[in-house]
Amino acid sequence: MKKAVIVGGSNGIGLAISKNLIDRGYYLEICDRGGPEEGILPSSSFHHNYCDLLDFNEELLANLASDLEVELLMVTAGIGRVANFEAHHIAEIEKMLTVDTVSTIKIFRVFYDRIRSKETFYAGVMGSISGWMSTPAAAVYAAAKAGVIRFVESVNIELEVAGTENRILDVSPASFKGSRFYSGKNDLSITGPLAEEILEHLFRHDTRFIPQYEETFKAVLERYHDDPHEYGLHSYNYKKESGRLDNSKKVKIGYLSGTFDLFHVGHLNLLRRAKAQCDYLIVGVHDSGKWKGKETFIPLEERKAIVEACKYVDKVVDSCREDSDAWNLWHYDRLFVGSDYKGTERFQRYEEYFKDKGVEIVYFPYTQSTSSTQIRKTVLLKTKDIKIEE
Ligand code: CTP
Repeated sequence: MKKAVIVGGSNGIGLAISKNLIDRGYYLEICDRGGPEEGILPSSSFHHNYCDLLDFNEELLANLASDLEVELLMVTAGIGRVANFEAHHIAEIEKMLTVDTVSTIKIFRVFYDRIRSKETFYAGVMGSISGWMSTPAAAVYAAAKAGVIRFVESVNIELEVAGTENRILDVSPASFKGSRFYSGKNDLSITGPLAEEILEHLFRHDTRFIPQYEETFKAVLERYHDDPHEYGLHSYNYKKESGRLDNSKKVKIGYLSGTFDLFHVGHLNLLRRAKAQCDYLIVGVHDSGKWKGKETFIPLEERKAIVEACKYVDKVVDSCREDSDAWNLWHYDRLFVGSDYKGTERFQRYEEYFKDKGVEIVYFPYTQSTSSTQIRKTVLLKTKDIKIEE
């Protein structure tokens, strides 16, 4: 059975490509965070694999790449928005470049043995016209897509030299309707014809497809090359006047605080769950456990370094006396804590304080099996009768 892998195949142009491939007799491995909208694809023709490009799953992709029935890979997953650069939080820059560039290029690395082989393999990716020229008001997106486009151009030469007929297709459209990209809806009557064109290029082993090139984008790219500055200014004003700039805050900032003495799996569970519910996680570390009437074993700087090295944590800071004081510094959207704090005087106060500030307090199940106190007790009990020889 012929199979195809579509990364981002649950929505937008990815969904239209999925539909088209099923009509052509392919069985699909759709890799996406959610499954495709009900009723669009026959359920016997695809399998949905949970895949989040922010958390690269090499094993899943390597398994798919090793399936010799798979003969096509199309990467359509991507994020972006039209906004001034100052409206992008550090976390949004990281997110966009991770999904649109880093993870995308990694996928091609995982499939590269298949693409580089002499056996026919079809591979393609959604670039964007914004990666071909300066794109003020989408500067980060343009940088992310330019990275992919230069990657595809470069590696296609390596493929040619390696003697295979296979190539990677860069599909670089301007914005199009019928996808959820600009908060729109999936509409296959709009994306369907574009998907058909994309697949025609893919099956021809083309390297580049800019939709409406002859009609529109040949002239646009010439104008840009003739005078990038003039073109850039025009492009910015056009976007601004057409009301497409969305300079709202897009990332969710999370905060939590703790002592993090004798770092344990309860801490790890809390940090992992917290990061799953925000884009940027700030962790405040208490200078000592004194406020809880407890002694800490590990010095503050070491506890901070350990927490900082955890992959779920974006920033470590000294905690404030109160988490509400930390809000004045970091303006977080979510405050996380273990369920052992629910109903305490402190968190009742916070519930009240944050009521009108748009901050949500999220309680996670306390990991019962461990705590710094339990570890301290166990160690003390076990070592009580042991004489330590110097
Ligand atoms: N936490 C948790 N599960 C655990 C231990 C801690 O969810 N088993 C959470 C706490 O609810 C808190 C955060 O981790 O939100 C940091 O707590 P910290 O004071 O460092 O952890 P404890 O191990 O509970 O420390 P101690 O035993 O010294 O009180």
